[in-house]
Amino acid sequence: MTQSQETIAQSQFGPQAHAYIASAAHAQGADLQRIAAIAAEHTPAHALDLGCGGGHVAYAMAPYAAQMTASDLSPDMTAAVAAEAAQRGLNNVETIAAPAASLPCADGAFDMLACRFSAHHWQDVPAGLREARRVLRAGCVAVFADVFAPQLAAADTHLQAVELLRDPSHVRDYSEAEWRAMLAEADFAITAITKGRLRMNFAEWTGRMRTTPDRAAAIRTLQALASSEVARHFEIEQDGSFTLDTILIEAV
Ligand SMILES: C[S@@+](CC[C@H](N)C(=O)[O-])C[C@H]1O[C@@H](n2cnc3c(N)ncnc32)[C@H](O)[C@@H]1O
Repeated sequence: MTQSQETIAQSQFGPQAHAYIASAAHAQGADLQRIAAIAAEHTPAHALDLGCGGGHVAYAMAPYAAQMTASDLSPDMTAAVAAEAAQRGLNNVETIAAPAASLPCADGAFDMLACRFSAHHWQDVPAGLREARRVLRAGCVAVFADVFAPQLAAADTHLQAVELLRDPSHVRDYSEAEWRAMLAEADFAITAITKGRLRMNFAEWTGRMRTTPDRAAAIRTLQALASSEVARHFEIEQDGSFTLDTILIEAV
């Protein structure tokens, strides 16, 4: 029987909540440091981590925010984040289990918002961004960080294919141009863009999403068949590890 996008995402992420809390790839990074620096600069009264996963953005912002809300589609994920925040002594963290496109929050409830490595799983990113805009007070800062699709069309196709084989809840890693258009449409004005590269260890990357051996083998086949341009772009290694493009967009 077929399942909705949100059901697939919940069954992919729910059982892996603790793996996302433990994930070194998610627990560190220049993007996380930048988000913490922005929070330190703005000292928000109420900040939102949208699509919080293991909660690393919330843990980074919470010391600078009076109130910190971490929201995610998966109730298993938000329960794990609530427990982890309590263990870390972050008493200002509360959680909400809801899809990004439908948040049970008042208009302008937050004065800072960050969303990292989540939007590529959403069924309707324009709707999620409109909702982000609705719950963010006018003039306040929003940060969107994600993997992004390269300009080289073959590399874009390769990326989406290996992502989908790895994780059936993958929707799309958007290009910079798509991000710019979607943010403009949702009434966000971009103030800064920082790009980076992020190496994914193949065993950890597939293990975190419980990729079955047949699908992991299919990814390895696509990697073996990749053109020299695509292999070079992703720096594909002997064991399947490779390097992605990341984008951090600051907007108001
Ligand atoms: C890779 S994890 C996020 C990582 C986390 N933000 C971090 O920086 O460590 C992706 C998360 O997006 C959530 N997600 C998927 N679809 C969603 C949706 N429509 N609305 C909100 N969250 C969603 C998943 O449940 C998952 O926890």
